[in-house]
Amino acid sequence: MKLPRRNAKDVEKMRAAARLASSVLEFIEPQVQPGISTLALNDLCHEFIVDAGAYPSPLNYNGFPKSICTSRNEVVCHGIPNDREVMLPTDIVNIDITVTLDGWFGDTSKTFVMPEVSPDVVALVERTQACLYRGIAAMCFEAEELAKPAGRRRYRRLNDIGRAIHAEADRHGYGVVRNFVGHGIGDAFHTPPNVIHYRSSQRGPALKPGNTFTIEPMINLGTHRNRTLSDGWTALTEDGLPSAQFEHTILVTEDGVEVLTARHEESDSPWMRYVDSVREDLK
Ligand code: MF3
Ligand code: CO
Ligand code: CO
Repeated sequence: MKLPRRNAKDVEKMRAAARLASSVLEFIEPQVQPGISTLALNDLCHEFIVDAGAYPSPLNYNGFPKSICTSRNEVVCHGIPNDREVMLPTDIVNIDITVTLDGWFGDTSKTFVMPEVSPDVVALVERTQACLYRGIAAMCFEAEELAKPAGRRRYRRLNDIGRAIHAEADRHGYGVVRNFVGHGIGDAFHTPPNVIHYRSSQRGPALKPGNTFTIEPMINLGTHRNRTLSDGWTALTEDGLPSAQFEHTILVTEDGVEVLTARHEESDSPWMRYVDSVREDLK
């Protein structure tokens, strides 16, 4: 399988869409507090996106009824914003933002932690973000490889990502969700390939400059197993234990990756320094 390689003009449009998606998370952050309903979060994000001249991609996507996904506690993904669902001080919530700007998509999510979340759940959230960064870093070259001229480097493969994520999750005994995956993204919301977050012996396609896709691990405190409610969307952990998720839209570059949906808070974080540095620094 060969993945589409975006040209410079397309990349510029994806950057703009991705930047807008990440700015929605930055905009909503101060509002994510105990007492707010997930519907209120939806409405604020919807207005911000429309005011920016973009479209909230989830709205009416395969019948999805709202503009963002809000996945609280044991909800793995695709939670539907609701006015009866009010944030408690002990809750976590993933807010997943996708926008369409000038025909191009940006997709990103973050799990927010309320002030009285238990330490084991705070750790789950932090380590899930670590899983995302491990996955991203796995797409970067080791020092020895990076020293070669760009055309001579051995390509990284798609399954390098899931291997890195799974290893990090295993270290803590967490469940890695298998039935929801990252995806190619560009002038459509979801395109091949499936970006799996677990280990696989199938190498998958080579990653080449210009490829664009998401990485979005869902990591569970308990079992990886989940079921979908009769609303056709909301996925819940089978054991009722919490699930966390972080997502970025990524561009493969000559030298590694560009995280198109990076937020300002991440730019001087140790995580982003990992990704900017060669893989050897990670070990
Ligand atoms: N944003 C989700 C993803 O990361 C997809 C949401 S589809 C929806 O791929 F219909 F639920 F919005
Ligand atoms: Co996605
Ligand atoms: Co998403």
